[in-house]
Amino acid sequence: MKRVLIIHGPNLNLLGTREVRVYGQQPLAEIDRLIRETAQSLGLEVAICQSNHEGEIVERIHSALGDFDAIVINPAAYTHYSIAIRDAIAAVGLPTIEVHLSNVHAREEFRARSVTAPVCRGQISGFGPQVYALGLQAAKALLGEAE
Ligand code: DQA
Repeated sequence: MKRVLIIHGPNLNLLGTREVRVYGQQPLAEIDRLIRETAQSLGLEVAICQSNHEGEIVERIHSALGDFDAIVINPAAYTHYSIAIRDAIAAVGLPTIEVHLSNVHAREEFRARSVTAPVCRGQISGFGPQVYALGLQAAKALLGEAE
C-alpha cells in the first residue's frame, strides 16, 4: 500500500478556536479523522504530524524519504517565507502537494506568494478541510501514474 505523510504546519493545532471565520470550527482532530477516513477509502496508508517549528518540519520531510511515497503539506505561515522547507521538499524529491484551508489568493497580498508551491506538484487552496481529502486524491492519482 502506498504511504502518504501529512504535515500540518504552525498554529494549525489551534484550529477550531483560531480565527473561526477564516478557518472554520473544526478542530484539527476532526480534520485528522477526515484524513484517515479518506485515506482508507482510497487505499492509502497515512501518518499525520503537526509542528510549530520550522526545523522539525524540515527533519520530518527528510525522514519521509524511504518511508513514504508522497507528502501532503499545509506549511501554514511558513508557506510564505520558509526557504528551508522549500529546499527540504526539493531535496527529498517526493511528490508533494501543498494545501491551504483558506483561499490564500483572496486574502492579504503576502499570502498569495508561496515559496514552497514551486517545488510541489500542485497547490489546493480554499475548500476548508476538504483540501486534505483532495490532496490525498491528487497523491493517489500521481502515485498511480508512477506505477
Ligand atoms: C493557511 C494559510 C496561511 O496563510 C496561514 O498562515 C495559515 C493557514 C491555510 O491553511 O489557509 O496558518 O496555510
